[in-house]
Amino acid sequence: MEKIGVIGAGAMGSGIAQLAATTGHDVVLYDAFPNAIEKAKQSLQAILNKLAGKGKITDQDAVAIFGRIHFVDFLEAFSETDIIIEAIVEDLAVKREVFRDLEEIVREDTILATNTSSLPITAIASSLKRPERCAGMHFFNPAPVMRLVEIIPALQTDEKVTKKLYNLGEKWGKTAVRAKDTPGFIVNRVARPFYGEALRIHDEGIASPATIDWAVTTYGGFRMGPFTLMDYIGHDVNFTVTETVYHSFYQEPRYKPSFSQKRLVDAGFLGRKSGRGFYDYGDGAEMPKPIKNEHIGKQIFNRILIMLINEAADAVFWNIASPEDIDLAMTNGVNYPKGLLSWANEIGIQNCVARMDALYDEYKEDRYRCSPLLRKMANQGDIFFE
Ligand code: NAI
Repeated sequence: MEKIGVIGAGAMGSGIAQLAATTGHDVVLYDAFPNAIEKAKQSLQAILNKLAGKGKITDQDAVAIFGRIHFVDFLEAFSETDIIIEAIVEDLAVKREVFRDLEEIVREDTILATNTSSLPITAIASSLKRPERCAGMHFFNPAPVMRLVEIIPALQTDEKVTKKLYNLGEKWGKTAVRAKDTPGFIVNRVARPFYGEALRIHDEGIASPATIDWAVTTYGGFRMGPFTLMDYIGHDVNFTVTETVYHSFYQEPRYKPSFSQKRLVDAGFLGRKSGRGFYDYGDGAEMPKPIKNEHIGKQIFNRILIMLINEAADAVFWNIASPEDIDLAMTNGVNYPKGLLSWANEIGIQNCVARMDALYDEYKEDRYRCSPLLRKMANQGDIFFE
């Protein structure tokens, strides 16, 4: 079995190390900061004890899994690893430097993967003398629990490397999908309207966060409404992803960030973690009540849904991933109740086009332009997954 290296013992790195060790791999887990290693040790021990306490694994398993993870503070420990997954700070210059240092230490055939969520894989790979050994392997948080992994070849990646990482993801019990090296890959791109359109509806004064959350959970079957979810993720994180995607696409209006979310960040109202976001989580605070009007609720949900469907269809149009992988990514990566393209089939492609055109007629903004793929499919009477 391959020996796995993980660089960065933070939230993602320690989760990935746990996942690999649970599957039976020997793992080397490195961090540049001794505190981070100590913290990872303690948190992994606590997680494994908790799993054993709940009967999900045996006490012996917990000891064995922990024993397979070697916590180190020197890069040379990676010399005998077969596959290394990097999960350090989201900074291109720092990642490139670490990859360059690593290449001096590892074997010629060691695969170097990165868990970056927003940086170009191709730019990371180009720091290497042998860039063909580098690819993206993007897990979701928490890595041992979330079922999706996106595999992203760089322009230089050897197909054998891509396949190996894809198979590794599946071996670790994940649903692996392939994505093109473009900003946000699949999930962080296709999910943008879930937040962006909800914010826009709120900013226009159409409905309150509580009403929009109620509409999306009631009529869409989503586990959490967009405002509850943004408060949970943290507005600093969620806003930064939106802003990064917006600028990476050269100011594409569909991804335009919202001022009301920016103001929350300015105020330090980051969501649950700071006690206040769109909702107040302070002691004794009461949750605002939604206005439960069926007509308005359905209109709100349908507007968010059609923007999501249009985004998913456009990702197919631009060859970001296959329709099958896009639906798998959204149901496995962010727990959507249904694949967006299957949803499009259910609604009817012609109806999807009519809904987008109605939004465009109302606003005359580029943001609401219908994806050329949807229009072509409607004209030809096509459906997804034929
Ligand atoms: P984190 O801040 O929890 O952990 C990062 C770790 O890297 C820290 O322990 C830090 O000490 C260490 N580190 C920083 N610079 C280093 C260096 N030069 N050498 C070695 N170690 C170094 O961050 P998190 O959330 O685990 O994210 C890590 C990566 O995973 C980022 O690229 C992020 O974009 C990506 N990611 C994060 C997700 C999330 O939800 N948190 C989801 C998917 C990907």
